[in-house]
Amino acid sequence: RSKLGEVNTLEDVVRLIEGSSRVLVLCGAGMSTAVGIPDFRSKGGIYERIRQRYPFLDDPQLLFDIHQFRLDPRPFFELALELLPATDDALRPSVSHCFVAELERRGKLLRCYTQNIDGLERRAGVQRVVFCHGNFDTVTCVRCGWHGALSDAVRECIRAGQVPCCERCRRLQADDEDADVEEVEPVLKPDIVFFGESLSDAFFGQIHDDLEATDLLLVLGTSLQVAPVAKIPTSIRPGVPQILINRELVARARVEFDVELLGDCDVVVAELARRLQWEMASMTPASA
Ligand code: OAD
Repeated sequence: RSKLGEVNTLEDVVRLIEGSSRVLVLCGAGMSTAVGIPDFRSKGGIYERIRQRYPFLDDPQLLFDIHQFRLDPRPFFELALELLPATDDALRPSVSHCFVAELERRGKLLRCYTQNIDGLERRAGVQRVVFCHGNFDTVTCVRCGWHGALSDAVRECIRAGQVPCCERCRRLQADDEDADVEEVEPVLKPDIVFFGESLSDAFFGQIHDDLEATDLLLVLGTSLQVAPVAKIPTSIRPGVPQILINRELVARARVEFDVELLGDCDVVVAELARRLQWEMASMTPASA
């Protein structure tokens, strides 16, 4: 569906991309479903899995709630097994990730704002990326605030279904005979943004300028249900074209997209790349 009055919606988008030099990409979990990472709200997605595994939970989002995590981090770590990115090359970026990298290579990408924590944008080579909801690269101790890289030991601990703990706190506790055993457990929390936490400084430090500067918004694979990222489309300067590429219409977005290309994002962007005559190494959608 296009509001731009042209005959062909794909041609509308091709024309917009050709004429643009500051594309703001806003993406979500739909970018990675093609490579086997479930999204949150679709049938079979993470929230449905949580409902099945924890039927007593009122709301599946509670697993990503910081207050709930502080009370009992175990359910989160049980699920983290499914969210934790592989260390090896087993997980490859999707065609859509490669498309964003190609936008950047051609000097057209202003910034990619991703809600995803799988890090696949970086693996595809995208440099101008803001991880709005953080990622699994680093961890922070909820007790002492120690912050560091997610080590192989911590990764293994999570993979083994255990709650990773801060070694520094453990050592101090062992050395201190008067240590209060009732103190908060020194859990290492991956630096992903939980509900109840603020978004990264990287987001707030950049978004204002980018909203002013962008000349085209490309929304890929997100239901746009979680603020403040969901407010990006309504915060952009009037007149800047907005394109949605998603399997479904985004019902709750209070924005009217200029063009809505409904379908698998890999298939849609592969067709866009073909029409743009962009030669890209990885352009065969897994779902094609
Ligand atoms: P959602 O699961 O809410 O939405 C994913 C969207 O992508 C849905 O509209 C799907 O129809 C669509 N989709 C799935 N696969 C697709 C494909 N191959 N091609 C095109 N579209 C596809 O995921 P997000 O919008 O990313 O936050 O969720 C936003 C935030 O909600 C997440 O970052 C997470 C979650 O709660 C936190 O945990 C803080």
